[in-house]
Amino acid sequence: MEEPERLARGFERGFLAGRRLADLPWEDLELELKNSRDSSSLLAVLQKTVLHPLCLKYPPSVKYRRCFLTELIKKHEGVADEPLDALYEALGNVLNAEESTHCYKNYLLPSGDAVTLCESTAIISQGTTGLVTWDAGLYLAEWALENSAVFSGRSVLELGSGIGLTGIAISKACRPRAYTFSDHHQLVLQQLSENIHLNGFLLEPKAHSQDAAKGQSCTAELVELQGPNLTVVELDWNSVTKEQLADLRPEVVLAADVVYDPQLIQALTGVLQKLSICNSDGDPPEVYIAFAIRNPDTYHLFQTELDKAGIRWQVVPGSQKNLFPYDSHANITILKLHL
Ligand SMILES: C[S@@+](CC[C@H](N)C(=O)[O-])C[C@H]1O[C@@H](n2cnc3c(N)ncnc32)[C@H](O)[C@@H]1O
Repeated sequence: MEEPERLARGFERGFLAGRRLADLPWEDLELELKNSRDSSSLLAVLQKTVLHPLCLKYPPSVKYRRCFLTELIKKHEGVADEPLDALYEALGNVLNAEESTHCYKNYLLPSGDAVTLCESTAIISQGTTGLVTWDAGLYLAEWALENSAVFSGRSVLELGSGIGLTGIAISKACRPRAYTFSDHHQLVLQQLSENIHLNGFLLEPKAHSQDAAKGQSCTAELVELQGPNLTVVELDWNSVTKEQLADLRPEVVLAADVVYDPQLIQALTGVLQKLSICNSDGDPPEVYIAFAIRNPDTYHLFQTELDKAGIRWQVVPGSQKNLFPYDSHANITILKLHL
């Protein structure tokens, strides 16, 4: 691969997923600009970012694109006397675009396919944390892609799915038989359903137990032909019953970034206890929970509640690939729970 192309690929993945601008490989670009003394590397970066077909169709926020182009222009001005028209033209287009409360993020998968999500531009909006993708969700998806055998041909239930990154990535890359997304917040459920459609999946019309049962009877060939059977259910940890959980018949249960509020921990542990007796075949589901340890007290409280409920746990090694743009310094853990 030529140097400008290699460099541009270094920007592509991070830019499309809205990675922090400071984490993009600016120093490599500066070095290349100084060495080559021409603009081919800048033009290649522009093609793989702001002019990328995914960005043209599903753009990151106006602010993000504006700041990115401003930085790119600065790098160019540091080495060149003449302005580069293509950069100013791109900036002009962005300055004419309207700011919105929503933007798109495109998370590239190893296959070259992408998970495209419509997300909120604010971390907390409409009283929920569920309208953006969190680092633990990205980390869990990355781990899942490396461990697809855990999901292949199985029925998966996700708790607190948010807007769907983890489940959509698994549905695209790990061939589950059925995947049930769940959350309790109406706007989150609505955005989640829209994102599932955006990624080319059809949702089962109603989230009833029959849907899960239908998923049970799907053969591997059907999964290959039609893709997994996807459903979205409203599921509140405070009120869900054993019967409702049993109807879903999960073989694998996932949750990402749901251990952040001490008040939620008891409700979550209650759901796990109910899940331990919900499988009519006798085998409790395998459970994987990923979370960022922001406050060690919250993590210890979760461990204490698990111990009280008689749920054994072990830390699962994460992936080292850094495929998705989570903060590599964040302290993220995946626990496998033995119900
Ligand atoms: C920090 S977000 C994580 C979203 C997603 N899993 C991710 O990693 O990007 C926490 C999610 O848990 C959901 N949640 C919080 N309390 C809940 C409850 N009692 N029942 C069901 N879902 C809940 C929120 O609506 C939100 O979508």
